[in-house]
Amino acid sequence: MIYLDNAATSFPKPETVIREMNKCMLEYCANPGRSGHKLAIEAGRAIYNTRELLCRLFNIENPMQIVFTMNATDSLNLGLKGFLKRGDHVIATSMEHNSVARPLTALKERGVEATYVKCDSEGSINPENIRKAIKKNTALIISTHASNVVGTIMPVKEIGLIAKARGIPYMLDASQSAGVIDIDVKEMNISMLAFPGHKGLMGPQGVGGLYISEELELVQMKEGGTGSNSEYLVQPDIVPDRYESGTPNTVGIVGLGEGVRFILETGISNIRRHEEELTRRMLQGFCRIKGVKIYGPADEKKQTAVISMNIGDLDSTEVSYILDSEFDIATRAGLHCSPLAHKTLGTLEQGTVRFSIGYFNTPGDIDKAVQAVESIARNA
Ligand code: ALA
Repeated sequence: MIYLDNAATSFPKPETVIREMNKCMLEYCANPGRSGHKLAIEAGRAIYNTRELLCRLFNIENPMQIVFTMNATDSLNLGLKGFLKRGDHVIATSMEHNSVARPLTALKERGVEATYVKCDSEGSINPENIRKAIKKNTALIISTHASNVVGTIMPVKEIGLIAKARGIPYMLDASQSAGVIDIDVKEMNISMLAFPGHKGLMGPQGVGGLYISEELELVQMKEGGTGSNSEYLVQPDIVPDRYESGTPNTVGIVGLGEGVRFILETGISNIRRHEEELTRRMLQGFCRIKGVKIYGPADEKKQTAVISMNIGDLDSTEVSYILDSEFDIATRAGLHCSPLAHKTLGTLEQGTVRFSIGYFNTPGDIDKAVQAVESIARNA
C-alpha cells in the first residue's frame, strides 16, 4: 500500500513512538498525578516530559500552559467555547475546517457572531481583509495555519501582528502544520494553539493539545477528578488541572512525546524540505496529465504536502476508490469535512481527490501515484 492520506492521520509512525508506547504499557502505565507510588510518579514524569518537548517545539515558556485533549477538534472546542461569550464577535477565514465552523455555528445560539473572511480561489487570504473585519466587540481571531484541502499556508505572522496591534487574542488551528512548519507562539503572537497528536507530530490517535497563554482564562468544558485540591467540590483553578479532568491518555501522551522528539531530532527544516521535494514532484507529474485539474497554489513553497485534484468531471470518490482498489494507493476524496473551503475553491459539488504526502513517503511512491492517475485519466 502506498499511503498518501497523511493529512487525515500520519502513517507509519516512527519506531521509537511504538517502542516507547509499548514500554509505557508494559512497565509503568499507572495513574499519573493521583497515587504517590513509584509507578504513578513515573507516569506523571513521562507526561511532563511530553509537555517539555512540546514547549521546545513551539517555543512555549511554561509547560503547564499546555492542556492535553483528545484531538485538535477537542482543543478547538475548548478554546472557542471556553473563551467566547454572549455579545462577542469572532473572525475566522473561509478555509476553516468543520472543527472550527461547527463550534462557531453552535456558538451562534449562545449569542456569538462570526465573520468568515473570504479567501481567494487558491485558498489564500489577504491579511488586510482580516484587519477590516475587526469590530469593537471582536474578541478573537482564529485561522487555520494550512488548509487541510489544498495545503495553502496562511500568513500567520501578519495575522498575529494585526491581532496584537488591536489587543485581540489570536488562536491558531495547527492541525495540518504542527510538526511540518515552524511554529513559534511568541514570534507569531499566538494566544491559543490547537494541535492534534496523530498527524504531523507522529503520535497515536486519541491525543492532542491546546496551548493557552497565561493571559487567557477559559471556562472549562468538564469538571471532575484532577488529583489536586481533592478536598474541594469545585474545579481547581490551577492550570492545566482546571481543563484536564479524569485519567489522562498516558500511553498516548508518551507516544506524542516520542513523535515530538523524533521531529526535534530530525529537524523541521529537513522534514519540510523532503515534503517540498515530493510535493513538487507530484505537482509536476500531475501537470503533465491531460484532463487533470489541480486546486490550490500548486506551488510547494506556498502549501503543505497536500495536493487536491480532479480528473475531468469524474466523481472524486470514484477516483479515490479506483486508486485504492486497483493501485493500492490510499487517498481521501469528497469534502474533507471542510465545506467552507470547498465552496471557496469552487469544488463543493465534485469534491476533490486529496493526496497528502508524509515524511516517510519516497520519490518512488510519488511516481507510482502519478502513473496511476495517468492510467485512470487515459481510460476516462
Ligand atoms: N481533518 C482530517 C482530514 O483532513 C481528518 O482528513
